[in-house]
Amino acid sequence: MKDKYYITTAIAYTSGKPHIGNTYEAILADSIARFKRYQGFDVFFQTGTDEHGQKIEEKASKAGVSPKAFVDSVASEIKRIWDLVGVSYDKFIRTTDEYHEKQVQKIFNKLYEKGDIYKGAYEGWYCTPCESFWTESQLVDGKCPDCGRPVVKSQEEAYFFKMSKYADRLMEYYNNHPEFILPVSRKNEMVNNFLKPGLQDLCVSRSTFKWGIPVDFDPKHVVYVWLDALTNYITGIGYDADGKHQESYNKLWPADVHVIGKDIIRFHTIYWPIFLMALDIPLPEKVYGHGWLLQDGGKMSKSKGNVMYADDLVEFFGKDAVRYYVLTAMPQDNDGLISWESIIDGINSDLANVFGNLVSRTIAMSNKYFDGVVKNGNVFEPVDDDLKAVVTSAVKKVTAKMDEFKISDALFEIFTVFRRANKYIDETMPWALAKDESKKDRLATVLYNLVESIVVGTSLLSPYLPDTCDKVAKMLNVQLREFNKLNEFGLIDEISVTKTPEILFARLDSAKVMEQVNAMIESRKEKEEKKTEKVEEKVEKPLIDIEEFDKVQLKVAKVVACEKVEKSKKLLKLTVKLGEEERTVVSGIALHYAPEYLVGKKVVMVTNLRPAKLCGIMSEGMIVCAEDENGNISFLTPEKADMPDGSPIF
Ligand code: MSP
Repeated sequence: MKDKYYITTAIAYTSGKPHIGNTYEAILADSIARFKRYQGFDVFFQTGTDEHGQKIEEKASKAGVSPKAFVDSVASEIKRIWDLVGVSYDKFIRTTDEYHEKQVQKIFNKLYEKGDIYKGAYEGWYCTPCESFWTESQLVDGKCPDCGRPVVKSQEEAYFFKMSKYADRLMEYYNNHPEFILPVSRKNEMVNNFLKPGLQDLCVSRSTFKWGIPVDFDPKHVVYVWLDALTNYITGIGYDADGKHQESYNKLWPADVHVIGKDIIRFHTIYWPIFLMALDIPLPEKVYGHGWLLQDGGKMSKSKGNVMYADDLVEFFGKDAVRYYVLTAMPQDNDGLISWESIIDGINSDLANVFGNLVSRTIAMSNKYFDGVVKNGNVFEPVDDDLKAVVTSAVKKVTAKMDEFKISDALFEIFTVFRRANKYIDETMPWALAKDESKKDRLATVLYNLVESIVVGTSLLSPYLPDTCDKVAKMLNVQLREFNKLNEFGLIDEISVTKTPEILFARLDSAKVMEQVNAMIESRKEKEEKKTEKVEEKVEKPLIDIEEFDKVQLKVAKVVACEKVEKSKKLLKLTVKLGEEERTVVSGIALHYAPEYLVGKKVVMVTNLRPAKLCGIMSEGMIVCAEDENGNISFLTPEKADMPDGSPIF
């Protein structure tokens, strides 16, 4: 029977659309899951969403919907994105699933009855976005040590879990299982920062918000989100606190690996193992904490419109290119930097030049020289040995890297096969062999070796770039090779390649793509600005004194010329007359008024606003407009048409 392999991702918060960083984790775990399946393991891959907590309650209320409606919509968006990037999960758990909620309540009761959970009062510093309480000494510059945001002093009646009771057992477990936390460097962090200073008891219930699983014997409390969230790993596979587990739980637990980000290692390697010890459940084999994908050249922020989302990336570059890029962008012990430009470079260099080019050249030459039918000509030369050695040793190297979760290194090893094969083309020069009829068999051997190399490399690549590899197999008319035969060379008898090959990865024109990307970012930014403006407008401004109003100088101005500002969809350049004086004003009304319509009109203008450059033009005032709920604009004009321009308004 095949060995089982149970792999999980962290469950993503349903507080908003996941960015490429969260999506990276799902792609990473997916590649491991697919690789393990390919190796022959009976894989179960679970992912899902973490849907309770104060932050979500607040977001829902801001959006004017119920928390459940809010999480339903975000959870389906997360699922859509996971599907879009090809995450081959077997189970998508939501912490609002009924079976999960029921088990969390039972687990809470069980731990309470056991005496590991007790009622107390909590006073501490609370970080709302992270949903974490911190002690004074844990704060960094008075702020949350995880996210750096401000914390608030909070006190409330709460239930606590006796963490300290299990601290020695946990330390012993660490010592006996040196590879429990990977990369190993992360273990030292846990020991030095949390275990050695002494574990604080953990708050496991809250009563200041409602959106959570109620403690069933004290329902004004809801289960504090980490006890709720972490237990997904067992409830999702059929754990039952009364011991009536489903068969799948008995088969799958303990998990083989929890794949998580570096910020939540503490929760997974201290609290989670301790909860499991308290429940008398074995601990997971490994917890792998990956680094973070960070945006090169500045923080991702919604207001800048530059947050990178997987669906945009897929639309621009295709699913497999995105998977390849994020997997290679992340070194193991560090954070990875991403940018649109480097994606384009990566696609052009590795995917188009190395991989795509190798496949297309090989297919083209097979068609040109052998009418698409490739068979070994059995004429060998020493240069073949080196190619074969690189190809047949790849599987061992890739497996070793995967065993340590060094995904980008594994991909590098696979691309070594493709690079070696490209070099082999340069060395053997098939076009020269083709000129000499007596070298026909040697030419056949060269092409045969290339096809074999592609088959092995592509098979190895299939867990990471599944669709592309299937395409290559179709174009070559072969099955991808079984895992345990990847160290063999020469298994193909004869193959007929396609006559109409597809381009796997087209070379991208960086400048052109970046133009489109920037236009998208710009329009997102405008949308966000509009949203913020709307929110600001809704807020009534505070009362002011007449002196404050008096500081603003308003005058009647007559538009004498008007034109569009080049490179801007929104801006118009107006020349206005204020009596004797003429001024230039740049105004964001181009979407509402044609320039010729404005010429001759009288408008109301703020004349003492400090001049500012807009799109390189100095604007010396502001035209006053009214705006309705739908964003329709109307400029203001004096009721008497003969009111002279330059007249003051007060
Ligand atoms: N809900 C918790 C996890 C509970 S697990 C029982 C949570 N959710 S999250 O949505 O904030 O993050 C989900 C995962 O994405 C975490 O593992 C987190 O580390 C990871 N990432 C968040 N931002 C990331 C990057 N920028 N880059 C890589 N991973 C990122 O934490």
